[in-house]
Amino acid sequence: MGMEHLSEVLKILDGALKANASMASNYAGLLADKLEQEGQRAQARMVRERLARAPMALAMAQDASRGVSLGKLPADNDSRLNTVDVSLPSVEAMHLVLPDAISERLDDFVRGVRHHDQLASAGVAIPNRILIYGLPGTGKTQTARWIAATLGLPLLTTRCDTLVSSLLGQTSRNLRQVFDYAQQTPCVLFLDEFDALAGARGNERDVGELQRVVIALLQNIDALPDSTVLVAATNHEQLLDPAIWRRFATHIPMPLPDEAMREALFSRCLGGFIAPDVDLRSVAVLADGATGALIEQVCMDAKRNAILSGSNTVQRLELYRRLGLALALQMGERLSTKEQEVRWLRRWAESEFSLRALSALYGTTVHAMSRIIKGDVQDGQKTKTKQRKPAQRPET
Ligand SMILES: Nc1ncnc2c1ncn2[C@@H]1O[C@H](COP(=O)(O)OP(=O)(O)O)[C@@H](O)[C@H]1O
Ligand SMILES: [Mg+2]
Repeated sequence: MGMEHLSEVLKILDGALKANASMASNYAGLLADKLEQEGQRAQARMVRERLARAPMALAMAQDASRGVSLGKLPADNDSRLNTVDVSLPSVEAMHLVLPDAISERLDDFVRGVRHHDQLASAGVAIPNRILIYGLPGTGKTQTARWIAATLGLPLLTTRCDTLVSSLLGQTSRNLRQVFDYAQQTPCVLFLDEFDALAGARGNERDVGELQRVVIALLQNIDALPDSTVLVAATNHEQLLDPAIWRRFATHIPMPLPDEAMREALFSRCLGGFIAPDVDLRSVAVLADGATGALIEQVCMDAKRNAILSGSNTVQRLELYRRLGLALALQMGERLSTKEQEVRWLRRWAESEFSLRALSALYGTTVHAMSRIIKGDVQDGQKTKTKQRKPAQRPET
C-alpha cells in the first residue's frame, strides 16, 4: 500500500476520530476495492476481514447490495422532506451526446479524479470540483449522472432550491447536513439548481440571509477534502457569486446540440421506430434550436403515439408535426387553435407541409386547408366543409 491510498486512509482516520463508524467502514470498503483492482488481493482481504468483524449494529446499517452505509437521509426541519437523493447510475443505461471538446474536458476531469492522489503527491492536483452551466434541457443533470457512473460512485443529488428554507438559519443548517452526510461515503455530491444557493444578488429574498448562505456555502466547500467529488449545475451562471465560481477548477458550458448531435439524438431516441421515408438528416436540420430534452420528448411522444395506434414506426409527417409544435412551445409561440398550428407548421417547414399533406394530417379538404393557410378562416372556427357557414370574411 502506498501514497496512492493516502486519501482513503485519511478518511478512515477522520471517521474514527469523529466516532463515525459508517464513514470509516465505507472508506475502508473503497480501499479494499482499490487494492483488489490493483491485484493486491492479500491486502484487500485483510481490510475486508476487519470490516466483517465490525460490530453488529454497524453491519445492520450497511446496504446489503453494495456494502455502503448511508444511514438516515438528511431532511429539512420545516417541510420534513429529504434534501438528498441517492442513486447508482450505470454507464450502460446512459447516453450522452456532446461536442468532442466538451467530452474531452469531461474525460480529463474524470481522469484527474481517478488519479487525484498521484497528482497530489506530485503537488499538481486540482480540487475535484466541476461546474456545469447552460440552458435547461441541455444535459447537465445527465452529465452529473455520467460522471458518477463512470467513476463507479453513488450520486448524492441535492436540489438546492429544496435546501432554501423560510426559517432563519435553517438554509445554512440544511447545507451543513448535506455536506456532512456526503463525507460519510465515497460519492459524487451533486448540487443541482445551484444558483438557488449560490446566487449573488438580484434576488428578492432578504439580502442579509442570502449573504449568510453564500458564506456558509463557501465554508462548506472549503472544508471538503480536495478528493471529494463535487458537481454543481445551473441554468443561470450569471447569477453565481464570483467567489463561488472560483471554487470550481473546471467549468463546462453545455451548448445546444449542433446538427450532427441532433441527428445522433434522433437516431438514438427513435431507434427501430424510424420509418423508411424519414431522413434524419433533414429532421436534424429543421430541429435547429432544439435542446436534447426537446428531441427526447418529441421522440418519446411520437413512439407512444405509434404504439397506441398499432404501428411500429413513427410516420414522417407525424414526427415533423410534433417537432414543429414542440419548437413553437420552446420559442414561446402560443398556438391555441388548429389554424394557428397549421400556419406555424407551414411557415416553419413549407416543403414538408404541402397543402395535401396538411389536409390529410388535419382531416380537411385541400380547399379548406388552403383557406386556413391564407388566413381566411377565423381561429377556432370549424373547418370541415360540411359544417362550414356561408363564407364570411374575418374583420381584418
Ligand atoms: N446532450 C444530451 N445527450 C443526451 N441526452 C440529452 C442531452 N441533453 C438532454 N438530454 C436528455 O434530455 C433530458 C433532460 O436532460 P437533463 O440532463 O435533465 O437537462 P438539464 O439538467 O440540462 O436541464 C434527459 O433525459 C437527457 O437524457
Ligand atoms: Mg437538470
